[in-house]
Order: sequence, then C-alpha cells, then structure tokens
Amino acid sequence: MMRFSSSTHSVPEAGEMPKHVAVIMDGNGRWAKRRFLPRFAGHQRGVEALRETIKACIARRIDYLTVFAFSSENWRRPAEEVSVLRQLFLAVLESELEKMHANGIRLKIVGDIGQFGERIVELAQRGERLTAANVKLTLTIAANYGGRWDILQAMNRVARDHAGQPVEFTEELLAPHLAMNYAPEPDLFIRTGGEQRISNFLLWQLAYTELYFTQTLWPDFDGAALDEAIAWYAARERRFGRTSEQLGPGQKDGAPSSRRKSA
Ligand code: IPE
Ligand code: IPE
Ligand code: MG
Repeated sequence: MMRFSSSTHSVPEAGEMPKHVAVIMDGNGRWAKRRFLPRFAGHQRGVEALRETIKACIARRIDYLTVFAFSSENWRRPAEEVSVLRQLFLAVLESELEKMHANGIRLKIVGDIGQFGERIVELAQRGERLTAANVKLTLTIAANYGGRWDILQAMNRVARDHAGQPVEFTEELLAPHLAMNYAPEPDLFIRTGGEQRISNFLLWQLAYTELYFTQTLWPDFDGAALDEAIAWYAARERRFGRTSEQLGPGQKDGAPSSRRKSA
C-alpha cells in the first residue's frame, strides 16, 4: 500500500506526464440522443471509449486511471436506466476480468457497491484478487461512489477505531481510510461532455489536481483526445501554494520538475 501522500503537507513530484488521471465519463446520453438512439447505446459506446482510454494510458505509461462510472446520486435516474447501467457494469466484470489480468491491469473498485447486488460484489472481489499483483496500470472504477460518502466512511472508521474516545482528526489519521488510499492524488482530472463541475467525485483527492474540461462526449473520447488533455496539463504551472518565482532552478523543496510555464 502507498504511504500517506498529501499535496497539502508536502509538494508532490510533478512531471510533464500525469501519473494519475481521473475521469468523469460524461455525455453518453447526449451522444445517443444526437443519433436518435436510446441512451443505452451511448452507455455501450462509453464502454468502448473506456477500453480505448485504458489502452492509451498503458501506451503512455500512466500509472493510475480512475473513472467515475456511477455516482451516489445516479440512483435518481429512471429505474430503467439504473438497471441498464447495472447490467452493463455486470457484463463488463463478467467478460473483462481475464483480459484485464492478461494486460497487466490491477483492478480496483471504489464505492458502496453492495447496493448493486451480490453478483457484482463477488466479481469485483474476484477481479481485485486476481489482478492484485499487476503493475502496468491501476484501473479504479468508482461505482456508487461519492466524494462525501468517501470522507464520511473514512471518518466513521476512524471513530470506530477509537471506540467512543474523542478523536482529533488529522490528514494522517483520515487519509489512510479513504477509498483510494493505495494511490497518489490525481494529477489530471478530465471531464468530458462540457459540464464544469465535480459532481461529488473525488472531493478530498482533487485538492491540487489540474482540472480539464472538454466538450467531447465520452463515447467520442480516445487516445488523441487524451493527448490533448495531457498537452494542456504539461503547460500548467503547478505551484502548490508557492509563487511562480519560487519554482525557478535551485529551489529547495526537492520538486524541481513541478516547474511549469502557463500556456
Ligand atoms: C455519463 O453519461 C454516464 C453516467 C452518468 C453513468 P450520462 O448518462 O450522464 O450522459 P448525459 O450527461 O446525459 O449526456
Ligand atoms: C457524473 O455524471 C457521474 C458519472 C459520470 C458517473 P452525471 O451526468 O451524473 O453528472 P451531473 O448530474 O450532470 O452533475
Ligand atoms: Mg451526464
């Protein structure tokens, strides 16, 4: 497991390439609507786009890809669509685990997935176990995930560990209980579909992440679209609270590669 890492406690190493990319895969419904297709068709194409993006991340040696598949608020959708999304998630788990393993992918699933039923929980556990030792790419699927849920479940765990004693919460105490305790904080966040909001995705972990928004609808996303996002990222100056002048050569914080010019 990764040691506690926090962009508010120490300046992370930051190069031209993001190590961790987190994506809100939005716009499936609109993609389908434009083609007079049912929303389901958009979600199906969304799975293809995810496959492309995984390949592209591996080819670019990105270590962590985290994707938002279903938010804790998506239960508000019509029952039929919720059911379609659940079926699709199940089908992906049923058909892809071996392929992921063969491709060196370590699968992680974060979120309160019990609500999707036993079969999905079982497959998720099997997939995580099967791929646990793989190192090419850590793929995290966030399903029935919410940033607030994550922080609260971490707090509840800490509180339980303290068995009724008062707790002085610190980052070091809380962060190891967050769902993504095995990963560094994301460097690059991508949201497709044009909306500029976080929609309760990784609230804690996005503290110093570069936020990229594109009009491209998720089913149209691919390696070229990822490259555009990475090029944008490479032009950011990640200051982590410091001034631009402090980022010059010979800085004392040991993170010289975080020096970056604004585009
Ligand atoms: C994202 O696409 C997929 C999920 C939320 C599961 P949407 O279904 O939100 O597509 P739009 O935003 O309606 O186009
Ligand atoms: C965010 O997309 C969640 C996922 C992509 C899984 P939504 O389409 O649900 O977000 P809002 O409702 O537009 O904010
Ligand atoms: Mg949407």
